[in-house]
Amino acid sequence: MDFELKTLDAAGAAQEKTDVLLVLVTDGFQAGKDPVSRLAGAAVAGGDLETKAGKLLQAYRSEGIAAPRVLLAGAGDGSGKKVQQAVQAAAGVLRSSKARKLTILLPKGAGADVVRAAVCGTADSSYVYVATKSKPEGRELKKVVIAVADAGAQREAFARAKAAAVGIEFARELGNLPPNYATPSRLGEEATRLAKAHRLQVEVLGPKEVARIGMGSFMSVAKGSAEPLRFITLRYEGAAKGEAPVVLVGKGITFDTGGISIKPSAEMDEMKFDMGGAASVLGTFRALAELKPRINVVGLIPACENMPDGASYKPGDILTTLSGQTVEVLNTDAEGRLILCDALTYAERFKPRAVIDIATLTGACVIALGGIRSGLFATDDDLAQQLLAAGDAALDPCWRLPLDEEYAEGLKTNFADVANVAGRAGGAVVAAKFLHRFTQNYPWAHLDIAGTAWKGGAQKGATGRPVGLLLEYLLAQVGTAPAAGKRAAGKKAAAKSRGRAAA
Ligand code: BES
Ligand code: MN
Ligand code: ZN
Repeated sequence: MDFELKTLDAAGAAQEKTDVLLVLVTDGFQAGKDPVSRLAGAAVAGGDLETKAGKLLQAYRSEGIAAPRVLLAGAGDGSGKKVQQAVQAAAGVLRSSKARKLTILLPKGAGADVVRAAVCGTADSSYVYVATKSKPEGRELKKVVIAVADAGAQREAFARAKAAAVGIEFARELGNLPPNYATPSRLGEEATRLAKAHRLQVEVLGPKEVARIGMGSFMSVAKGSAEPLRFITLRYEGAAKGEAPVVLVGKGITFDTGGISIKPSAEMDEMKFDMGGAASVLGTFRALAELKPRINVVGLIPACENMPDGASYKPGDILTTLSGQTVEVLNTDAEGRLILCDALTYAERFKPRAVIDIATLTGACVIALGGIRSGLFATDDDLAQQLLAAGDAALDPCWRLPLDEEYAEGLKTNFADVANVAGRAGGAVVAAKFLHRFTQNYPWAHLDIAGTAWKGGAQKGATGRPVGLLLEYLLAQVGTAPAAGKRAAGKKAAAKSRGRAAA
């Protein structure tokens, strides 16, 4: 889909050649003298259009307006959130209209958040999955003009919004692919293709290399599958070589049956979305490639299936992680933390300024926060604040949950350094506490996206979250890297280093 940013006021929008003109009408709307705002003003005055976000009124062949269809949409107070709701509401009408070109007239004074909401909202609600349909009918909408008072002032916001939309869509597409398509190898191929197209660095490791590195925990999860595991490293270098990177770690379980601790059959198909963390890392790199900000970012993706088999790992097994810590497996369905822990230890070799893992980790997080906010855990208050702010700004919000030591109590075992599960209580926090053990040498945050990475039911599909949040966070880091040797974790990292060489 092609987006264009254009300087157009209501009078200009009236003359724009377009299939549909979407007019966002905010509270206290003042009608001007041009045909578009006269139409909107009359609709509000006549009581036929409420300005509450999501309210719609259609007009056909209106006097003085070039577009055959005009869609008036209430946009409330004109905030990004309300504009997103307005665009989502309009999407249904747009789909049935089969419009190819849409022009959106943003409210007066629209800022960066509104531009983003309009671009991402349109991209989001016009997306159609076709990859495995025999008669693919793709998205009808080909061209979207974003009409603002001053295009120059919104150029930067527009570029960011487009990059976010592309990244989110890439993550959705990967997430939606069936598990017999989106295998660990396929994720490796997608990373390689992305890297080749945009000059990113990529490395895709297989079982032998991962064994040689010593990722005993990750390897164990993969043992029951006929699909070979992959460990993907992507590097985006937009800043000086020496500048410490942010490392993103994405859970890439391409199908989670639960393994020997097998899951019930109902809705098990949705466990194809268990690579949502990995998809969000790939989507974020897609967006970075588009925008080219001055920052260094590393993406790490442990990818495998979790299957029951004669060769599977099993309850009671003791695994030796890359960190050297041993883990007793008490439930093979708590596999996400077992692949992430090795990736989190591996992350140390990049001397990161921060490490953020993204994972569809626990059903408990779905119970706690539903599908609205992702769960956020962080060992660093600044990092937590930045991620919370980025999530709010990107309309991809998260909510901080605790990491008190007491939550790790249930992970004690007589047979290893730690068990992989405790009781059911506080399951999202307990999972985070397990990961916490492997993140002592850098500022760390964990996003549990079990509730937000996809939707079930009639609208079943990947959401592309939290690409919007991650991109917003990364862009806010541009130019803020601490001077070499002054990193917060620098001292600690040196003291606790187990002598591994830097990559
Ligand atoms: N991928 C699941 C988490 C999940 C479950 C996400 C349902 C979304 C919906 C994860 O691997 C898992 O199975 N977690 C277990 C952990 C438990 C065994 C401690 C869970 O949440 O039930
Ligand atoms: Mn599981
Ligand atoms: Zn899982």
